[in-house]
Amino acid sequence: PTISIQDNAISATLPSGESVTIQLYGATVTSWKANGQEQLFVSQKAHLDGSKPIRGGIPLVFPVFGPPPQNHVTSPLPQHGFARNSNWEFLGKSSSESAETAGQAKADLAMKLDFGLSHTMLTEEFRKAWPLEFGLVYSVTLTKDTLETSLQVRNEGTQNFEFQVLMHTYFNIENISNVRVKGLDSKTYVDKTRNATSHTETSAALAITEETDRVYKELDPAVPVIISSADDDKPIFSLTRKALTDVVVWNPWIEKAKGMADFGPDEAYQNMLCVEAGAVSEWQTLEAGEAWEGGQTIKSRL
Ligand code: BG6
Repeated sequence: PTISIQDNAISATLPSGESVTIQLYGATVTSWKANGQEQLFVSQKAHLDGSKPIRGGIPLVFPVFGPPPQNHVTSPLPQHGFARNSNWEFLGKSSSESAETAGQAKADLAMKLDFGLSHTMLTEEFRKAWPLEFGLVYSVTLTKDTLETSLQVRNEGTQNFEFQVLMHTYFNIENISNVRVKGLDSKTYVDKTRNATSHTETSAALAITEETDRVYKELDPAVPVIISSADDDKPIFSLTRKALTDVVVWNPWIEKAKGMADFGPDEAYQNMLCVEAGAVSEWQTLEAGEAWEGGQTIKSRL
């Protein structure tokens, strides 16, 4: 595998051609190519200069999802916290071959890239806003068929803290009208477009036909959530999780897409769908000295 470091971004390419690019800003994955195709959506108007969270790819949401609640330790933070708008460090790479094929198929190589963020690296503003001692290690693993992202959160302080986390994946899709989301049937969700009211999903294959912003709760992380083709019902992406029991489904649709200065072109809402693995409907409590780990594995065009 080859690796290159350029313009504050790390790229890795497997011998079989798959590649991934991660910006140090936010440790945001901004490209994942598999089967010769880009799998992630990035807005043409996204800021890649560190002036704003990146509109696309996989922004990492930590330690709070959405606008922070009032009277909470996260209250002074911006929407979705500080991880996606902090400068991370590259900790290094490791590669491995799967045991069965060792020495044979190079294509079975896996390449893992690790990134770190700790309280000492935050801007003064963020440190003041969330004055807790923490360490994050974010690992991005590329294999021939999958992209895996996993986050370890360590409490390096002397008091407990609470956090939420979410991997805000923007999937690149050909046309929103031709996809369905499966694996949500019978799950309870909070509809953020309808005053955060609670509903139960009744569709086995959810079509996105309007602005959609829903937090699905209490999912079994091992059961895949699938973005499938409406034409032939075949999976386009499948998403399994570890320790992340919520899944957010978001599409801004016409008006919201126009309203976002960094979203473009306006019609691009048709070419993206966010299906976001997270632990966001509750708070995770981390004791002093303890660590927590969660993540997602995405398979593409199975
Ligand atoms: C989603 C939220 O995860 O992120 C939406 O559920 C939000 O409510 C969207 O609009 C995008 O957020 P932002 O801060 O990147 O514009």
